[in-house]
Amino acid sequence: MAAKPKDKQFTHLPIPKPQLLVPLLFFSLWLISHLIFFSSSSNTTTNITLIAAEDEKCDPAIAALYIVPLPSRFNSDLLLQCHILSPYTDMCPHIANRGLGQPLSPSSSWHATHQFIAELIFHARAENHPCRTPDPSSAELFLLPFYAGLYASSQLSQPNLTLRDSLAHDFATLLPSLPTWSKSLGRDHFMVIGRTSWDFMRSPSSSSTPDFGANPLLHLPETQNISVLTVERVPWLPHNHFAIPYPSYFHPSAATELAAWRTAILSSPRTHLLAFIGGRRPPNVEKAAARARILRQCGAASTRCIRIECRPHNPSACHDPERVLSVMRHAEFCMQPPGDSFTRRSVFDAVLAGCIPVFFSEHTAYTQYVWYMPARPEEWSVFLGPDRWDRIEEELDRIPKTVVARMRERVVEMIPRVTYAHPNASWRERGFADAVDVALAELTKFVRGTVSRA
Ligand SMILES: *[C@@H]1O[C@H](CO)[C@@H](O)[C@H](O)[C@H]1NC(C)=O
Ligand SMILES: *[C@@H]1O[C@H](CO)[C@@H](O)[C@H](O)[C@H]1NC(C)=O
Ligand SMILES: *[C@@H]1O[C@H](CO)[C@@H](O)[C@H](O)[C@H]1NC(C)=O
Ligand SMILES: *[C@@H]1O[C@H](CO)[C@@H](O)[C@H](O)[C@H]1NC(C)=O
Repeated sequence: MAAKPKDKQFTHLPIPKPQLLVPLLFFSLWLISHLIFFSSSSNTTTNITLIAAEDEKCDPAIAALYIVPLPSRFNSDLLLQCHILSPYTDMCPHIANRGLGQPLSPSSSWHATHQFIAELIFHARAENHPCRTPDPSSAELFLLPFYAGLYASSQLSQPNLTLRDSLAHDFATLLPSLPTWSKSLGRDHFMVIGRTSWDFMRSPSSSSTPDFGANPLLHLPETQNISVLTVERVPWLPHNHFAIPYPSYFHPSAATELAAWRTAILSSPRTHLLAFIGGRRPPNVEKAAARARILRQCGAASTRCIRIECRPHNPSACHDPERVLSVMRHAEFCMQPPGDSFTRRSVFDAVLAGCIPVFFSEHTAYTQYVWYMPARPEEWSVFLGPDRWDRIEEELDRIPKTVVARMRERVVEMIPRVTYAHPNASWRERGFADAVDVALAELTKFVRGTVSRA
């Protein structure tokens, strides 16, 4: 089984026009947050995990990290050809600011971040990380900064498999020759991929079936010992793959910014019971069956559902961060049906907006983001099995308001861990563990042998 590239529907994301209201809003949030934070932090409804922030010390839960120098063809050279990195969109605006993309207003923490760009942001965060060491002999963790996702998307329409796979093979060949390799035969090395693992697992017999542009990187023997961080793992493969969040739009530098946002969305009026942001899929796409049922119930059939429809020729609405968040922060529940693959960036947009995710497959989050999500799914989400797909509104309406409020608090508590902080933020200023810190701490447990890999 090979991947269908998810950005089939992804149309050009315009650089948002500067708007006065947004900077004003964020400035006032910032101001409020400072007032709240410095006057009575114990009165806020949620807790921020503050890390001892006296200086730039490495958290003892995270091992010393070395970034393995790779030839530039594996990373920076790819960025030079950003116009041709994706057959669907010009990636140049998206790779800007180390992968955060275009800021929504000057010097804001909000960016129009592309969904498949985590590998760039992670690399930038790692470069500035207090646990980074320039000395490989003192390191326990080794990041391999290969932008494999951008490479894969640049080759999605390449029919010649020799050409399509060549850099993946080069990378695999390089691994055992790295000076850092021999100590653990690669088990302390890891790479980060901003696309789904399906895109790197072309099945060997794909000559007869469509291969959707995938290469075989993650099937090659040389990549079997390393850890692979990806936005979607293949759930049923007991493997060295771990899921990390899709990046959303908020890249704060400080815990105060985060606290202000969490306070604001907890009090946001939820005028609608449910929201769905997404497009149709052809009726024969079995994985997307729940979508058709949601679309039937959300729209003319109900005034309690808000939706943004993503159409191939409706470029902005679905990928306009302000529009997406404004819909999500006005709904109690956000529908998260599978589409081209099981997972969706939208799950992380919903968490950011304090909108309780509703899942139709356990592979959209529960079997994926185990490092990031509360162990008990019912604390922060709703799962609807196929027998309940025809009465979504009734099912959601039945959940008592007090339960809904508790779930929302749980969702809002998750925000720091699934957020990619601004890579330039100092540890001292930041004061919260973000998605990168969580991943590094989990990888540390693995290299130190306190947990074993499946
Ligand atoms: C906040 O922290 C306090 C003290 O650690 C704890 O008792 C309380 O339950 C926490 N509140 C939330 C919403 O997690
Ligand atoms: C981080 O800071 C450097 C130096 O001031 C600057 O050149 C760079 O643009 C900043 N990066 C981001 C992502 O803002
Ligand atoms: C694919 O590309 C390789 C390398 O450039 C070339 O040798 C080969 O002939 C090409 N194969 C086809 C079928 O065009
Ligand atoms: C991966 O680890 C195994 C031992 O667990 C070793 O036999 C194999 O050679 C390693 N692979 C590479 C490419 O180093």
